[in-house]
Amino acid sequence: VQDILIPVEPRPYRVRIGDGLLERAGSELRRLFGRRPPRCFVLTVPPARRWARVVSGSLRRAGMEHAVLAMADGERAKALSAVESLAERLVRAGADRNSVLLAVGGGVTGDVTGFLASIYMRGIDYVQVPTTFLAQVDAAIGGKTGVNLAAGKNLLGTFHQPRLVLADPEVLTTLPERDYRAGLFEALKCGIIRDRRIFEFMERKRDRLLERDPKALVWLITACVRVKAAVVAADERERGLRRILNFGHTVGHALEAATGYRRLRHGEAVGWGMIAAAEIGRALGHTTAAVADRIERAVMAYGPLPRVHVSANEVLQRLAADKKTVGGVTHFVLPRRIGQVEIVADVPARVVARTVERLRQGARV
Ligand SMILES: NC(=O)c1ccc[n+]([C@@H]2O[C@H](COP(=O)([O-])OP(=O)(O)OC[C@H]3O[C@@H](n4cnc5c(N)ncnc54)[C@H](O)[C@@H]3O)[C@@H](O)[C@H]2O)c1
Ligand SMILES: [Zn+2]
Repeated sequence: VQDILIPVEPRPYRVRIGDGLLERAGSELRRLFGRRPPRCFVLTVPPARRWARVVSGSLRRAGMEHAVLAMADGERAKALSAVESLAERLVRAGADRNSVLLAVGGGVTGDVTGFLASIYMRGIDYVQVPTTFLAQVDAAIGGKTGVNLAAGKNLLGTFHQPRLVLADPEVLTTLPERDYRAGLFEALKCGIIRDRRIFEFMERKRDRLLERDPKALVWLITACVRVKAAVVAADERERGLRRILNFGHTVGHALEAATGYRRLRHGEAVGWGMIAAAEIGRALGHTTAAVADRIERAVMAYGPLPRVHVSANEVLQRLAADKKTVGGVTHFVLPRRIGQVEIVADVPARVVARTVERLRQGARV
């Protein structure tokens, strides 16, 4: 088992990565919470139900009182209404201020559970058990929680760190191909923003990774979690450095919103967004043509990405509603080289528009 500490104040927590962790969830929690184990509420979605059952069995063996609550699946279920109805169910099930929520599912489950935990009775503990690749390398770590509004993604949310994250690569065996690949784009992102070894590993090990080779997976998940840990440690509240994690997300979020969260997986939108960022970087002279092409080629190697039919105007409108827009200025994270990005504020709208038009025609490489 690989252990990575997320060194946030006042209470650091561990991300544990390894096969068989789900079977041991009960003993992990007993160890964490000591002699008076709390009541646990496992929040899950139908596709992750099987893994929730493994967790539930393990809690039972550890003698921990618990219940399983299923919620609706999908990005469109990441809404305030879901939080409210879950809260009502928690009250009816007797959850109190000492209870602990366990999120067993993908990033949507984790974001909703974390948000709910942060406001339920003014805040209770929660544990992340991410069951998608994307959630294991990214969403489950760092304490950002939230839900979407019709106007845009993640516009309501809080910072609330989990007490523990358990990432077991075995859960990835049931992930549909498209969701699995979508997560790999976030790993590519980690490489581009901070660690070229991740990027090069993904260039080299494409076939291994697409076969979901457990050894390759543990290496990649661990490397990505280290990137996230370092960035979150330096800037928990996203005032500075943490913004680099938004690489590919500026245009990506706009595409997701403009297509009603239906056409693109989050990771796929990030794939397009990284191509867009490389393209904008090229247009503005921050990124060499060689680096931009290399990024585009790496994204496409983990494709195919669904074609986007979104007009430049729609994207510009969405950008105006984005959290990354402050005082009317949208901040873009642009690649400098593989492993290093920079934040640029003054990207002209016409450059963004031209880039989006290009995305509509498909990839360059
Ligand atoms: N909080 C953060 O810091 C952060 C970071 C990145 C992304 N996110 C959010 O995460 C979300 C995307 O996460 P995601 O890609 O995990 O999406 P998701 O949670 O929608 O999961 C994708 C699909 O896979 C299913 N699934 C989950 N585990 C499975 C398994 N083991 N086997 C089979 N099916 C399974 C899900 O039920 C869903 O249908 C977005 O809402 C994004 O905004 C949050
Ligand atoms: Zn993301």
